Amino acid sequence: MNIAAVDYDGLIPNNVALGQDERVKRALEKWHPGYINWWNDMGPEGFQESLVYLRTAISVDPKGWAKFDYVRMPDYRWGVLLAPAQEGRTIPFGRHKGEPAWQDVPGEYRAMLRRLIVIQGDTEPASVEQQRYLGKTAPSLYDMRNLFQVNVEEGRHLWAMVYLLQKYFGTDGREEAEALLQRRSGDADTPRMLGAFNEKTPDWLSFFMFTFFTDRDGKMQLEALAQSGFDPLSRTCRFMLTEEAHHMFVGETGVTRVIQRTCEAMKEACITDPYDIAKIRKLGVIDLPTIQKKANLHFSLTLDLFGNEISTNAANAFHSGIKGRYREDRLKDDHQLEGATYPVLSLVDGKIENVEAPALSALNMRLRDDYVVDCNAGVGRWNKVIESFGIPFQIKLPNVAFHRHIGEFSSIKADVDGNMLSDGEWTTKRSDYLPSDSDKDFIESLMQPQFEPNKFASWIAPPKVGIDNKPGEFEYVKIA
Ligand SMILES: [Fe+2]
Ligand SMILES: [Fe+2]
Repeated sequence: MNIAAVDYDGLIPNNVALGQDERVKRALEKWHPGYINWWNDMGPEGFQESLVYLRTAISVDPKGWAKFDYVRMPDYRWGVLLAPAQEGRTIPFGRHKGEPAWQDVPGEYRAMLRRLIVIQGDTEPASVEQQRYLGKTAPSLYDMRNLFQVNVEEGRHLWAMVYLLQKYFGTDGREEAEALLQRRSGDADTPRMLGAFNEKTPDWLSFFMFTFFTDRDGKMQLEALAQSGFDPLSRTCRFMLTEEAHHMFVGETGVTRVIQRTCEAMKEACITDPYDIAKIRKLGVIDLPTIQKKANLHFSLTLDLFGNEISTNAANAFHSGIKGRYREDRLKDDHQLEGATYPVLSLVDGKIENVEAPALSALNMRLRDDYVVDCNAGVGRWNKVIESFGIPFQIKLPNVAFHRHIGEFSSIKADVDGNMLSDGEWTTKRSDYLPSDSDKDFIESLMQPQFEPNKFASWIAPPKVGIDNKPGEFEYVKIA
């Protein structure tokens, strides 16, 4: 069989020859009904019967892997898809550097690998749960379709991690696969594992910020795991990244279109001051300072996902050859980092300063730095839009010490420029930096559904091009 092609004959589409792997095939078929129940309970509410113009992977060839068609979401073909094996691949970093990549789980690293796979797996259904009510307030059918595309692909990412658990981790893998269907985002008793995945995604600006900032953390984690010496994990993550690219696109263009619409409305109304908030809001668009506050919130929550700046777990995962750095294969050093150092932003006598730390311990910090660079590129493109209207405003990412709950800065209060604040100052200034209740109420008031083809809610501009090059009037979702 051509490795790029996907076998669609059985219950579970795959390119891993499941048909010849009775044990794993049966385990996954047993897990399947629980997954479908989870999807029906926790997936997009109110649209399970609607026909959605979705892409489904039919190959893992980077060119032309997707096929577009109308699908009811519960009938989506969630499959197990791995990028093609690279012949003769070796472990690219750590103490086993240069040894043949593992095709099976190395016993000594079993627990570490399982933990990383479970944590990654847990984020996938969490985001579907967080986004389940958004369909009802979609600003257009185009956006609704994009939301559902992201949702079914996060569902497939769960399948990707569950396949690894079922295939390589025996009984405890099976138990972990079950537990992934039991936890619930935001649940007091059985929450999802990471903080940002227990927050609400209450409105569409949050959704776009989430896909821009938080899915981008997903991208960074997948990039680091795609370097893994455990080859099945590497291949799994490499294919997931092709889907993740669409999630980034939805977030970046979503915010761009919100900004675009705000600037257009300001121009039409001859408003030049971006802080003339009451007047701008009367136009039915979201003022730029409020967009900035949303960015502050989602950026800071997402930074927490990178964990402690200094981390023994991160050092061990790298040293063992399990989790690499962002684009490890393009870095020019010894890929072992023993004796190397890396500058880490730290709190020194009440000031934020760079301190050289052992590079192995500082890998979370390094991945976070790479993440911030990646975010900034997107923010720069947002600012180009504002600039093209001549409006004196720039979106800026807040200082990494701002509004943190994990790591070096979780014990202090800082403003968006990294200046230390007393608790009192923080309480007074908080709503200058983060959405206030009245900001939230205003945004919520704009969340009126627009379900007519080629129409868009007041606060967002139409996209430049349609999905799959469809024309504007195309009906992306046939609501049942
Ligand atoms: Fe994902
Ligand atoms: Fe994603």
